[in-house]
Amino acid sequence: MAAASVSREAFGSRAGFILAAAGSAVGLGNMWRFSYQASEGGGAAFVLLYVVMTLVLGIPIMLGEFGIGRRGQRSPVGSLRRVAGPAWAVVGYGFAVVGVLILSYYSVIAGWTVRYAIEAIIHGFPEDAGTHFGKVASGSGAIAFHVGFMTVTVLVVMAGIKGGIERASLILMPALFFIVVGLAAWATTLEGGGAGYEVYLKPDLDELMNPAVWRAAAAQAFFSLSLGMGAMLTFASYLGDEFDMPESATIVAFTDFGVAFVSGLVVFPVVFSLGLQGAVGESTVGALFIALPGAFDAMGMVGHFVGLFFFIALAVGALTSAIAVLEVITASVIDEFGVSRRNAALGTAAVVTIIGILPATSLDALGLMDKIAGELLLLGGVLTIAIVAAWVARSTIQDELIKGASPFWAKQVPRIVLMLRYVVPPIVAIVLIFSVRETIAAVGKFIGG
Ligand code: ALA
Repeated sequence: MAAASVSREAFGSRAGFILAAAGSAVGLGNMWRFSYQASEGGGAAFVLLYVVMTLVLGIPIMLGEFGIGRRGQRSPVGSLRRVAGPAWAVVGYGFAVVGVLILSYYSVIAGWTVRYAIEAIIHGFPEDAGTHFGKVASGSGAIAFHVGFMTVTVLVVMAGIKGGIERASLILMPALFFIVVGLAAWATTLEGGGAGYEVYLKPDLDELMNPAVWRAAAAQAFFSLSLGMGAMLTFASYLGDEFDMPESATIVAFTDFGVAFVSGLVVFPVVFSLGLQGAVGESTVGALFIALPGAFDAMGMVGHFVGLFFFIALAVGALTSAIAVLEVITASVIDEFGVSRRNAALGTAAVVTIIGILPATSLDALGLMDKIAGELLLLGGVLTIAIVAAWVARSTIQDELIKGASPFWAKQVPRIVLMLRYVVPPIVAIVLIFSVRETIAAVGKFIGG
């Protein structure tokens, strides 16, 4: 039931596309998930492995998505149908479903960041951050902020690629970079922050050999680079042939890593300077929303301002990522059912908002959804991309990636495709097997209460 072909929207500039793709990547994953994972995975050991995963897995998969998207000129459903054959359209719908699930809990967490920022303006950070987080995380307040965040997200998506997503990215992303770098510069002035830098920057060799840390680094790279959720594929479907995709993928991946790394240069010294390191590794979700606000409160007036900017940066990053995920779902509805952008965006946002009521009322449900959609299904998406781009439609995608590339990057494309063919699938498959086991255990725990 593909819609009749109407002229497809397009990004207006190279910078616009790169910032939109970087905006999709840079988000809560960089500032919340990265620090938490790094603190669990031996600090610098995790950071080092994360860089390796970004280079070996992240960039090839991103290029797979770019190649399929630009070749297909459609959302994941239509692009997979065009590039790999009609049967693959079903898998394309899977990307839209993953998008719905991820966005429904992502928006709840984003709502917390907005609430913390607004509260910081009104009255600063709470003394008892743990109790306060309990109130923020679930219930009517969490639902209200989730609805508010989804409203802003849908307004941007409704405005289209050039007038909405590109314009928002061109403003928000530089603002975010500026805030994060400013915060890292301020963090160097903290007394007692040295221990934080040490943990963050000095690798623990035992952790380097720990397979669990390898796995966490791979999963984090996929989540943080927005891979396996169709976002990069969908954005690339709005690109022309003249665009150098290998170069752009590299810029986006390094930007994403850069923001995550610099965010760590804020989080680690702040947390260590106040001796709150135990709190960061305690829970996947609550940690930074308890440890950091507690730290900002303890720092008085300065902490008040620093914390405000920190949560503004989090909210901005979350918004540009949420926009990308909603675009995947919206584009799928536009392309497949011929619905107008306005109605498609409103309809899909409504579904996401309703499903989000569950994670907004139960932290356990939120954690489980992150495990299922943010890890397991994402890994399935990543594996799909590698199989389609490097096995099912290898020469088509290779040609597509060479198109528009500079001579240097054109020469790298066959090597990157080889990695996508032989290196990526086995590693992702191993991570996937572990993730299935962990997810089954998590589901059992959730059902058992
Ligand atoms: N890539 C997005 C993030 O890191 C989803 O938050």
